[in-house]
Amino acid sequence: MNTAKRLEGIGEYYFSKKLREISELNQQGKDIINLGIGSPDQPPHAEVIAVLQDESRKNNVHGYQSYKGVPALRTAIADWYKTWYDVEVNSEEEVLPLIGSKEGIMHICMTWLNEGDEALVPDPGYPTYQSAVKLAGGKVISYNLNESNHYEPDFEALQATDLGKVKLMFVNYPHMPSGKMPTRKLFQEIVDFGRRNDILIIHDNPYSFLQPLNAKFANPVSLLSVEGAFEVVVELNSLSKSHNMAGWRIGMLCGNKQRIDEVLRFKSNMDSGMFLPLQMAAVKAMSLGEEWFVQLNRMYSERRVKAYDLLRSLGCSFNMDQGGLFAWGKVGEKFRDGYELSDEVLYKSNVFLTPGGIFGEGGNSFVRISLCATTDKLDDALSRIKSLNL
Ligand SMILES: Cc1ncc(COP(=O)(O)O)c(C=O)c1O
Repeated sequence: MNTAKRLEGIGEYYFSKKLREISELNQQGKDIINLGIGSPDQPPHAEVIAVLQDESRKNNVHGYQSYKGVPALRTAIADWYKTWYDVEVNSEEEVLPLIGSKEGIMHICMTWLNEGDEALVPDPGYPTYQSAVKLAGGKVISYNLNESNHYEPDFEALQATDLGKVKLMFVNYPHMPSGKMPTRKLFQEIVDFGRRNDILIIHDNPYSFLQPLNAKFANPVSLLSVEGAFEVVVELNSLSKSHNMAGWRIGMLCGNKQRIDEVLRFKSNMDSGMFLPLQMAAVKAMSLGEEWFVQLNRMYSERRVKAYDLLRSLGCSFNMDQGGLFAWGKVGEKFRDGYELSDEVLYKSNVFLTPGGIFGEGGNSFVRISLCATTDKLDDALSRIKSLNL
């Protein structure tokens, strides 16, 4: 039987394939250090786990849940947005809990894209934007992010193109994979661009709490904090990275009532509300104070120093202002591209780094190192790589 046409050009997700290969190498006794995927290796806060345990022992928590999440969760999301981003969202109307922000990307594309509608997608960028646009029947229009434009969209160049069919634009700051941090000016330009061209901006914001090396912890930024943003922006957010809860699948979408209702029309036909104890644990997670983020950033700062050492030993160049969960480096002259460097390091030193090309052509000359490994593991990776004498 043939697969549906919509799957043409959509391969299995890169990490799904690569993790299988790594597991086979491990079964052959290789002991691969995996610095690929951005899945936090530390647990959530102990009190968050305790809430999940306590709540799941109750008798009356195991049924289907409301598609919009329980009021306590929606209120916690609204409070969290107010506390950290200084953004007012109405908990009844402007918040939609999601089973991870990844699923939200698909819901968004299915909600707004007709066959042939266009969506602006960052290159390099999170691969799911492209796949979701294509699966929904839309057309991907890549916009380039690179060192020379400081990983910011070139709005003048975009404005000079025909934007008549563009309905959506995906943006993501702190940007994955480059670690580029947002600025107020950039955020204002994004909102202005959306308003001028009647394009719905989808801001994907899972890394806002993870800040550059040794930065004193400062409140993170939401695109919704820009004046006028509610007209043209919906924002995806997630507890995966900020609260070490990637496997729990807790995300959210915030935006104006009409947009949220539209997504709910699609989503409520696709899945159900989250397991209630997970929702209550998410409420606890979102009540954590600044100490949580300070210790998280301290840990990632120590790791980031090591990851930068690793990039140096690989002959990569990089800038030191990267936020998020990764270190992004440009491959030196010895290697054709990030794929070649990644293979060399995987097969000769049993360390896996992500080739930047999986995030789009603009990532071809780069590799990405995940900070989701202990400093001991990073040290081990460093000594293995040093012994390669690259
Ligand atoms: C930019 C970006 N957006 C979204 C996600 C998905 O996060 P979630 O776990 O909330 O689905 C990731 C995960 O790696 C990501 O890097």
